[in-house]
Amino acid sequence: MADLDLKAIRDTLVQLARRAGGMIMDSNYNQNFATDTKLNSVDIVTETDKAVEEMISTSLREAYPTFSFMGEETWKPGVKIGPEPTFVVDPIDGTTNFIHGFPHACVSLGLAVDRVPTVGVIYNPFLDILYSGIKGGGATMTTRAGGAAIEKRLPLRRDPAPLSGLGSALLGVEWGSDRQGTNFELKAETYRKLTASKETGGRMVHSLRSLGSAALNLAAVAAGQMDMYWEGGCYAWDVCAGWCILVEAGGIMAGGNPGVWEPELDGRKYLAVRGAPAGQKEIVQEFWDVIGEGKLEYQQ
Ligand code: IPD
Repeated sequence: MADLDLKAIRDTLVQLARRAGGMIMDSNYNQNFATDTKLNSVDIVTETDKAVEEMISTSLREAYPTFSFMGEETWKPGVKIGPEPTFVVDPIDGTTNFIHGFPHACVSLGLAVDRVPTVGVIYNPFLDILYSGIKGGGATMTTRAGGAAIEKRLPLRRDPAPLSGLGSALLGVEWGSDRQGTNFELKAETYRKLTASKETGGRMVHSLRSLGSAALNLAAVAAGQMDMYWEGGCYAWDVCAGWCILVEAGGIMAGGNPGVWEPELDGRKYLAVRGAPAGQKEIVQEFWDVIGEGKLEYQQ
């Protein structure tokens, strides 16, 4: 790790993310083009997902031949991330948004070292917003206005407010592709308890948001635009880049099930909290209390 040039790796990932963004915007998204499904009718993959992953994996294997590579479209069930430097890549995170032309899809490029998210680059080509983070080196968000790049450090607020509990929180959640069974029931019940009025036993959070991309949800928490994000069912490639950016912006990643303070990168159950001078652990505990006895049952 000591001899890895993380800044050079970040710069390579930024270049690739922008190139991939060009491929995404050049494709026929939102034009009834061919899609394929994986687990069920809402777990969708397109030719563009595959072409972008091919371009990224070929480029990274050339540039870093000794590193491992894990990508959403070529991963085989059972394969886990090892301790060696590993690129963890989602060519299009938010494929459902992509095929609907809903402008929240991104390229998510992470590097894990010792299974720890170490470099992260997320690029949303629809809105031309790029997030990046390097372990120990901070996180930034780059937008463009009038042709000029504007780079801001994350979180966007210089003095993030303390977290004062779920009652004043804006939370990211996702439905995922399981639409029946234990995980689906637990999500639906948790969303009800989070949003219901205090008089009826709920926490009455400010509201719930679903950006449709785990990476963009994590980027929003890192930026301080959402207070938390809870997800069960997504994979390491959905969260690796965003996790690095989150931590570099002062956030924490806990587990999606109660009691897990140190979740695994490929554990598939996550609870992210924004950077704040106080209240991070308390709000995690409060969220876990809402889950109660339930448990997300996604397996690695
Ligand atoms: C999906 C998105 C979505 C999340 C799913 C992921 P994909 O990734 O991140 O927000 O809820 O669990 O699978 O399929 O668009 O790459």
